[in-house]
Amino acid sequence: MNTPNLLSLNLLKILSLFVLVLFTGSISAAEGGPCKDYGDCDDFNYSLNDTESLQRGAAVFLNYCYGCHSLQYSRWNRVAKDLNIPEELFAENLIFDSSVRPGDLMKGSMDKKASSEWFGVAPPDLTLVTRSKGDDWVYTYLRAYYEDSSKQYGVNNLVYPGTAMPNVLAGLQGNQKLVCKNTPVLGKNGGEKRNENGDTITKEKCGYLKVADGEGSLSQTEFDSLIYDITNFLVYVGEPAKAERERIGWYVIFFFVIFTTLASLLYREYQKDYH
Ligand code: HEC
Repeated sequence: MNTPNLLSLNLLKILSLFVLVLFTGSISAAEGGPCKDYGDCDDFNYSLNDTESLQRGAAVFLNYCYGCHSLQYSRWNRVAKDLNIPEELFAENLIFDSSVRPGDLMKGSMDKKASSEWFGVAPPDLTLVTRSKGDDWVYTYLRAYYEDSSKQYGVNNLVYPGTAMPNVLAGLQGNQKLVCKNTPVLGKNGGEKRNENGDTITKEKCGYLKVADGEGSLSQTEFDSLIYDITNFLVYVGEPAKAERERIGWYVIFFFVIFTTLASLLYREYQKDYH
C-alpha cells in the first residue's frame, strides 16, 4: 500500500526541484544578462560568403583598430587571399608599415608595456575575440558606448562597464547618450494599461542609448552596418576556414543521405534472399 505513495512523493520532490531550477535559471538570466547593463546582446548572424562586407570590415579594422589591437594568429597574405584583395593593392592601401612582408603575422605595432601604462590594461589581441566573447557580444559592445563624464575618456559602455577602451568610432557615430523615455505600463495580460479616459498609462524608464541626429558622419543604420562588417571580419579572422568548413559540411550531409538510402536499399535486397 505504501510503495506507490512513496514513489509519487519522490516524483513530486524531483519535479518541484526541476521547476525550482528552471525558475531560478530564468531569474538569473533576467538579471544583467550576457551583455551586462545592456541586457541580452543583439543578435549577430555572420555571412562569410559576403566578401565585400569582409573587405570593408578589414579596411575599417586596419584603419581604426589595428593601431592598438593585433591579430597575431593571422598572416597578411592569407587575409588578402581569402578576401580576394590583390596583394599589391592590399599592401599599398591597408598595410601602413613598410617593413611588413606579406607572409608576416599581423602582430600589431603597439608596444604591450607602454600601452598597458597608457590604458591601465594592454589592448588584447583580437584574433579569437568572437570565439571567446561571442560575435553577438562584440557587435553589441561596439555600439553601446555612451557619454559619461565621470570616466577617463568621458565615455562608458553598457556591455562592458568601465572599459579601458576609448570610443574610437565616436566621430562616425556621434556622441551617444543615455536617455529616458516614457514607455507604456503593461498589465498582467501583456496589454497596455489605460486610465479611465482610455489613455495609455506611461512610466519614465531610463537607460536607452540615443545619438542626436546629424552628430556623427554616419547615420545610425550606416553605423550599425559598419559595425556589422567589422564583426563579420573578426568572425572570419577567428576561423579563416569556417566558410569552407560549412560548405563542405553540406556535401558531407548530402553524401550521408545518399549513402544511407543506397545502403538501406541494398539491405532490403539482401533480406529478400532470407525469406
Ligand atoms: C586607442 C587604443 C584602442 C583602439 C584604437 C581600439 N581599441 Fe579596442 N580595446 C582597447 C583597450 C585598452 C581594450 C581593453 C579594455 C578593457 O579590458 O578594459 C580594448 C578592448 C576591446 C575589445 C574587448 C576585448 C576583450 O576580450 O575584452 C574589443 C572587442 C575591441 N577592443 C574591439 C576594438 C575594435 C573593433 C576597434 C576598432 C574599431 C578597437 N577595439 C580600437 C584599446 C583600443
